[in-house]
Amino acid sequence: MRDDYFAIWKRIREHAPVYDAGEGVFLVTEWDLVNSALRNPILRAGSGVSAAFGQDSPVESVVRNWLMSLNGDEHRLARGLVSRVFSPRSLAQLEPIIRQTARTLIRPFIETANQRPADFVAAVASKLPSEVVRNLFAIDALEWATHVEPLFLGETVHRHDGFAAVQGLTPYFQDKIQQSRGQRTGGIVDMLSSADKQNECLSEAEVIANSVLIVTAAIDTTAGLIANTLVELMENSGAISRVQADAALISGAVDESLRHCPSAPSSTRRTPVDFELGGVRIPAGSDLFFSFTAANRDPKMFADPDIYDIDRDASALLTFGGGAHFCLGAGLARMEARVVFEELFVAGCGFALEEPIRWRANNPVVRAPERLMVSCAAIST
Ligand code: HEM
Repeated sequence: MRDDYFAIWKRIREHAPVYDAGEGVFLVTEWDLVNSALRNPILRAGSGVSAAFGQDSPVESVVRNWLMSLNGDEHRLARGLVSRVFSPRSLAQLEPIIRQTARTLIRPFIETANQRPADFVAAVASKLPSEVVRNLFAIDALEWATHVEPLFLGETVHRHDGFAAVQGLTPYFQDKIQQSRGQRTGGIVDMLSSADKQNECLSEAEVIANSVLIVTAAIDTTAGLIANTLVELMENSGAISRVQADAALISGAVDESLRHCPSAPSSTRRTPVDFELGGVRIPAGSDLFFSFTAANRDPKMFADPDIYDIDRDASALLTFGGGAHFCLGAGLARMEARVVFEELFVAGCGFALEEPIRWRANNPVVRAPERLMVSCAAIST
């Protein structure tokens, strides 16, 4: 949220790429150290996250079962079953739905923004990923708007809403999945519940846990990617006019936003043994906090890292993590952002930011604008 956010991470990286921040937390900020640690099977994902919800609470047991809390063979097996939802074929089937949804959201946004500043976050950036997830779960639009969306969007969820969302979504999915036991719902719960060719399948607790994970992992992060990309483009007039004129440049612009201004700025691992990283001894039981913000701007990996450059190869970005827990929704998130900008730049041009950005304060694992008041100079006919 601070204006000197990137400068602070730069100072930490230059001062000590593995920095002992006290209380058993080590900040890791150089690209090669973050990259190698993410891929190191000794380090454990998810430690401490479930316990943060309160020992033996219903939410704690859900969080303990989701992919981000599993390690080793247990994780490999469950990930194989969940990843069926995100196959290239499933994604290809989703693209027309995403495009239609984007058109439906963008048209009224552009019409308003052509008259007076309109909030791109509320109208498009948050709405599209929410609609995509609703479609994935095949949940009725009214039920989603009244029972599910308020759990993670809107007025009722304020500070620490990452926690509040998990707390609200857990009983929702528990009821929904227990009620539909044995019956097909038409959405991804059917796929999550079904056995694979080896006759392996997720337990009911794992289906509930990964449903909650998918909703909480998929919406704010992707909304942040879409909003951050528009910010980056509006702040770089040369880039926005090139992207506006040539849709083939959009994917590169989206990846460069992921690198330059990551909507998921961090991830963590815990070390069960004494561990050495970058010459620093890290005692067993410590947490490693990986700053993707700092690693993505490491000059040893990316030349002129502070510059937003849509022509660079940004594919080594670490914003989706890496190794065994690499984000399962990376392809979907990239597709959503690409389709939004393909549709936005066909619908209108001359986008400008109309007020200073206020960064969201209510989700510590997402960096994205709270709202984005934007004007649009011309609507395409
Ligand atoms: C711009 C959007 C997104 C960003 C930046 C993002 C980022 C991340 C990060 C950093 C991780 C942890 C990786 C690690 O610690 O190694 C992760 C994991 C995960 N993400 Fe995403 N994510 C995004 C969108 C999505 C979407 C759209 C979905 C699903 C629809 C999704 C589903 C998941 C799942 C299931 C995991 C856990 C994978 C595992 O533990 O094996 N994410 N994501």
